This record gives sequence, structure tokens and C-alpha cells, in this order.
Amino acid sequence: MIPTIQWDNDHIRMIDQRKLPARVEWFVARNYRDVIKAIQRMVIRGAPAIGVAAAMGLAMGGRTIKAGTYGPFMRRLQAMAAEMAEARPTAVNLRWALERMLRLAEGMSLEPVDVIKAALRAEADRILAEDIAVNQSIGRHGASLVPDEATILTHCNAGSLATGGYGTALGVIRAARDAGKTVRVYADETRPWLQGLRLTAYEMMEEGIPVWVIADNAAGSFMRQGRIQLVVTGADRIAANGDVANKIGTYQVAVLAKENGIPFYVAAPLSTIDPAIPDGDHIPVEERDPAEICQVGGKCVGPQGVAALNPAFDITPARYVKAIITEKGILYPPYSDTLKRVLEGA
Ligand code: MRU
Repeated sequence: MIPTIQWDNDHIRMIDQRKLPARVEWFVARNYRDVIKAIQRMVIRGAPAIGVAAAMGLAMGGRTIKAGTYGPFMRRLQAMAAEMAEARPTAVNLRWALERMLRLAEGMSLEPVDVIKAALRAEADRILAEDIAVNQSIGRHGASLVPDEATILTHCNAGSLATGGYGTALGVIRAARDAGKTVRVYADETRPWLQGLRLTAYEMMEEGIPVWVIADNAAGSFMRQGRIQLVVTGADRIAANGDVANKIGTYQVAVLAKENGIPFYVAAPLSTIDPAIPDGDHIPVEERDPAEICQVGGKCVGPQGVAALNPAFDITPARYVKAIITEKGILYPPYSDTLKRVLEGA
């Protein structure tokens, strides 16, 4: 699998996910504002991946700060982090990564600025490496929930491309296959950005895992016919009570799964849990340009001037989530207890 993001000397190279799978092109961010643009414009997307991008972006931005003393350096670093945190509102991993970077710098007030700059870069590298290890661990735990033979439905792309590598939901599928299980994947196409069709299908085909893309409105019908044994998705933010924000369309999949007696699992790192948010109603949901809805392949196919609504995420209430698969193990309801306990132990 092509790495989602990596250093290119002092710059950052990201695979341009808007172009996949037709073209493998690299977007090079030369300053932290390029990273903000890359996140906003979907060059890089997926909750853990934008967290990694923000951490690397802040390390890159920090290097360019001219201030030679701690106070002015920190003020500029905090201002950069505040700007980056606004890039996209829903995935909490973005803020989580920036806060982790700032905490490191805040604990180094007696160090020369150059030492802090080097430490920030090392911390961003750690966040990237840890993300891959965390996903592998999510995969190992999640594989135990997959029957020996299963067709698995997933929504959007929670794969290698959405993370530092390996993936969360797709990590579970990879790990199940590696454990010797026979897995097949149904990938919701995921309008309007088609992450399922373009990215999940691409990743699964590269991996040699059988995959069928289905229209977003087909999942219920396949479930009713008994052709899907479980659903696994990623998450952009999990509230303290277990409500889950994920790609728009996840909610209807979860409700349909419950109606059809199919387990609906969410695979996510602990960095996606936001204990400060009591429930899903308090999670900010990104509203994107309505033009994205009217377009197919970048061309408007609706009537000229038609209005459209484009929330990028929805909230799945905790009661539809059979379990949350984390790097520390599988969590079951009541999530207000199990999430709290796992975060306390982290
Ligand atoms: O708008 P996107 O493509 O950033 O949305 C991505 C998702 O909703 C993913 O399911 C989520 O971030 C989890 S990725 C491991």
C-alpha cells in the first residue's frame, strides 16, 4: 500500500486522494497553511490521517518560527495550532494530535527553541508510527468478531488511506483475512466523494480481498436477503455516551443492521473518543459545499441553480452500536462506563 503521508525533506508529501484510483499523484505541502488546504480540500481525509497531517504540519510550521526565545516561539506555535484545528470540525483526532504536540512543547520551557523544534518533529513521527501500530492492534481485536466465513459491509473508507496505515475498519478485515478467515467485502459507494468506490474498493483489490461496490441505497436490500453477516465502519468522533459521528449514511446502515439482526461494529482508536462531548447532539457536523452533491465526476448534473444540503457526517446513536473495537480491546455497552474506564487506563 502506498504511504498516505510522509516527509519529503522539510516538506510533507501526501497521496492526493481526490485523484485515486485513476492517478497516483502527490501533493507537497511546503508550509502549514498548505496542510490546512490539503485537509479542507480532501487531498488527505479520514480522522486519524488528518490528525497525523496536523501533527506533521505543526512540526513543519514550528521549524519556520523565527523567535529565538521560548515565550514568543510558543505564542506563534499556539496560533498555528489554533488555525490548523479549524481545518475540519468533526474528526476529533485533528485536535487531539495538535493538543499532544502543544503539550510536548509546553513541557520544554527550559529548552532552547531548536531543541523544541526537533522534539516536535520526533513527536509527529511517533504519532504516525503509533497510529499504524494502534490500527494493527484494532485489527487483531476486531478479527475475533468475524465469523470464519463472512461478507462484511463497510461505509466510506476507514482504510490505510484514512490513517497512518493499515486502517481501522479495513484493518479488521485485513486481520480477519490474515487469520485465515474467508472474507468478502461490500463497499458502499459513499456519495458524494465516493470514498467507498474509489478508495475502499482500490485498497481491497490491491490486497486481493474480494470486494463488490454497492450503491448507498442498496445496503438494506442486501441485508434483508441475508447476504451481509456484519457491518464495520470507522468513526470521526465518539461521544462519552458512545454515540458515533461517521460519514453521512452510517446512521441508516446502523439502523438497517439492527432491523435485520446484523451486528454493527465501530473500529476506532482511543484518540477518536471525545470524553468532553456528552452525546452525539453536541458533535459539530461539517457542512460542505452543496455543489458537491449536484456533481458527478466534477460536472454538475442537476438543474442549474438547484439547492442541495451536504452534511459530511451523521450521528449513530450508541444503541445501534453492538461494540466499539479499540486498540485496548472490544468495548460493549453501557459505553458511558466502558469508554470512561478504557480512557482512564490509557
Ligand atoms: O470526509 P472523510 O472522507 O474524511 O470521512 C471519513 C470517514 O468518515 C471515516 O469513516 C472516518 O474518518 C474513519 S477513518 C479511519
